[in-house]
Amino acid sequence: MTTTNNNTIQLEGYSDNALRILRNQSNSRIGAAHFIAMQDEYRADTNPNGYISLGIAENTLCFDILKDKLITNPNFNQKLTQYSDMGGDLGFRKAICSLLQNTISKYQPTDSNLFIKPEEIVVSTGATPLLENSFNMFCNKDEICIIPSPFYPAFVYDASMRFQVRVEPSSMEIFDKEGTVVDFRIDIEDFDRIYRENPGKVKMVLLCNPCNPTGHIIKKQEIIQVVDWCREKKIHLLMDEIYALSVFNYDSDAVEFHSIYEILKGDLGEFVHLISGFSKDFCLNGYRAGYVYSQNKLVIKYLTCTSQFYTCSNITQSSITNILTDSQFLNHFIKTNQSRLADAYNNAVECLTKGGVPFIKSSSGVFLMVDLRKCLGQATFEEEINLWNDIFDECRVVLNPGIACKCKEPGFYRFIFSLNKETVRVGVERLSKLYNKLVNNRTDKYNNTNNKIC
Ligand SMILES: Cc1ncc(COP(=O)(O)O)c(C=O)c1O
Repeated sequence: MTTTNNNTIQLEGYSDNALRILRNQSNSRIGAAHFIAMQDEYRADTNPNGYISLGIAENTLCFDILKDKLITNPNFNQKLTQYSDMGGDLGFRKAICSLLQNTISKYQPTDSNLFIKPEEIVVSTGATPLLENSFNMFCNKDEICIIPSPFYPAFVYDASMRFQVRVEPSSMEIFDKEGTVVDFRIDIEDFDRIYRENPGKVKMVLLCNPCNPTGHIIKKQEIIQVVDWCREKKIHLLMDEIYALSVFNYDSDAVEFHSIYEILKGDLGEFVHLISGFSKDFCLNGYRAGYVYSQNKLVIKYLTCTSQFYTCSNITQSSITNILTDSQFLNHFIKTNQSRLADAYNNAVECLTKGGVPFIKSSSGVFLMVDLRKCLGQATFEEEINLWNDIFDECRVVLNPGIACKCKEPGFYRFIFSLNKETVRVGVERLSKLYNKLVNNRTDKYNNTNNKIC
């Protein structure tokens, strides 16, 4: 497919798959916004009018602690330059077992068969290829994965871009009488509805806990309900716990995070699988390392025999092993990261409150949702995109629109707070100026209209 001068498209020489993917690529500014912003990035001293991106889930709060550990890797040797086990180096998989068993879940089963074993782990270049490959493993083209929404926007690409698996969102937002979002809850009756309305098509459920984009933690009882639902119907459940160690709210009324391994007392069985990685909790997005843990031998076999297509580099595996096997460093890093996340969250909350911008509370991850519904002329997703453009052009701030996360109502935007405090403060000041201008204009218009009618 070639785009000629007059923008006509020549179709010869490309597969149907490639053409479908190319045709579905939109040239939307939203997808490119973060990287556009990075070309002209805000700096307090040298570029005060530059862009501020609050639109990519990266945590840059702990590089100072990680730096030395990453540069000085005592495991560096010639073997790293050679081929290794494509599904993950044994030493790395052992270190992941210990992380899952002792740090993330803290559950020690009485039955030794249920201890997490390296042969139950497959490693890859991030969680993304394993997500895509899992959709391909459990679903045929046009079959369905249910994902409670709002959810991480890229789940849809992972499912559909190459393998054409459909995602059915199931809303979790709970609104009070005034229309404020007061909680998030999985609605198992809605799962039943999707299952009923699509006979024979639902093959998978994906839960993200803690949840991207809301930062809320799913209650243990709701997870058990979904596990039971999936097991009864012989549907695979993939638990994405990539933010398991990025929990920062320990208020007595906060929902506590429990890993699926802990919730099921080590017995995941045939239909429940865990996916995670090092991009988020270890601030290593660019290192590209993720893994699946499953007790289902066929799942492991499939992911291992396809792992040659996404083998994680030896240098990455070895660097992360160096972090995971130093328990003193590991504990210090996790605690510091959590306390810095709490600090960054509190800073964002303070700035938003001061600027009069409504938001939904978060307790984990690197994000919260701001509620800009009052700025929309009409409650439509089209208006939400118009406002996104205004925020990008006028405020020079990048957020993620709720439509990409399948929010139930237009006007919510994901806001990343894991940046330095000063940058977040300036970003919110710009946003707050636009927010208050639009809300006041709308109120004036409404009052004027009322006057006329009277
Ligand atoms: C919930 C969730 N799962 C998976 C991923 C993909 O992570 P990775 O960088 O390991 O591919 C992300 C990245 O933002 C995420 O937020």
